[in-house]
Amino acid sequence: MTPKIELHLHLEGAAPPAFIRGLAAEKHIDISGIFDAQGHYSYTDFWHFLKVYEAATSVLTSPEDYARLTTAVLEESAASGVIYTEAFLSPDFCGGRDVAAWRDYLAAIREAAARVEAQGGPILRAIVTPIRHFGPDKAREAALCAAETAGEFVVGLGLAGDEKTGTPKDYAYSFDMAREAGLHLTCHAGEWGGPESVRDALHDLRVERIGHGVRAIEDLALVDELAEAGVVLECCPGSNVALGLYPDWRRHPIGKLYDRGVKVTVSTDDPPFFHTTMTREFDRLAEALDWDDGVFHTLNRTAAEAAFCDEGTRKRLIERLGS
Ligand code: HPA
Ligand code: ZN
Repeated sequence: MTPKIELHLHLEGAAPPAFIRGLAAEKHIDISGIFDAQGHYSYTDFWHFLKVYEAATSVLTSPEDYARLTTAVLEESAASGVIYTEAFLSPDFCGGRDVAAWRDYLAAIREAAARVEAQGGPILRAIVTPIRHFGPDKAREAALCAAETAGEFVVGLGLAGDEKTGTPKDYAYSFDMAREAGLHLTCHAGEWGGPESVRDALHDLRVERIGHGVRAIEDLALVDELAEAGVVLECCPGSNVALGLYPDWRRHPIGKLYDRGVKVTVSTDDPPFFHTTMTREFDRLAEALDWDDGVFHTLNRTAAEAAFCDEGTRKRLIERLGS
């Protein structure tokens, strides 16, 4: 199986529905409304998806729950040949943005990940992710959690949630704090916002990578700016198609961005929500764009070079990808 590197995965969004149902049953929490008749997550659009996501996450109430989640998610990733994952973690969900509680959640997640890695599973690193629609004040608290725990495991700050809430500038304080703590930076943009949202994230937050960023294609001058600056896009085509941003895989702009010299990578975002896996992403792209192994090797190599990990880990990843 092709080894794969994934840079954009929301940990709770990767929770298998059966796992969430099991926890809900254990805790006598009724979240039956978020599933369809087949037991899959059910939502109508992106904004409803965010609500369903938060309802599913409400059953995860302890570090132990997150340890179990981490194991379940990494085992799924391993089945797709993933060798390295950067997962978005939110102090909002892990201890209510309290630094001491956050440390307990992190320790549990990290320990679970170390166990999976020791058994040959993927290496995990964390990107702390404030939730944009919770507002800039809560984002600062989340960013403080990130700054306090920056290191080998917590390697970045991101921004997820509703892209239509406020502007990137509203979150600049949080990103400045994270940069000063030595964290790498990324931000969701250019999915529900247009090309200007990508420009704003680049210029106002000085991020190295953009989550999605695909709507940059609507402004070719911006596409060229991304290519020239070497900004890496964390593309999640299956997510974009599932949420109706593009009608099908052929019309997804990842191929055009790649052809114009933008550094693109491929991730699943929230795999069970979007009925995808890393293997499925690679297979659909191969079909839709006629991409061969050489292109996928380039994507993986780009991802390894753009990973927020330490240089020793990066070197190991590049070795495992082969040439
Ligand atoms: N996009 C934005 N915010 C999110 C997502 C996503 O896919 N998943 C969880 N929060
Ligand atoms: Zn995302």
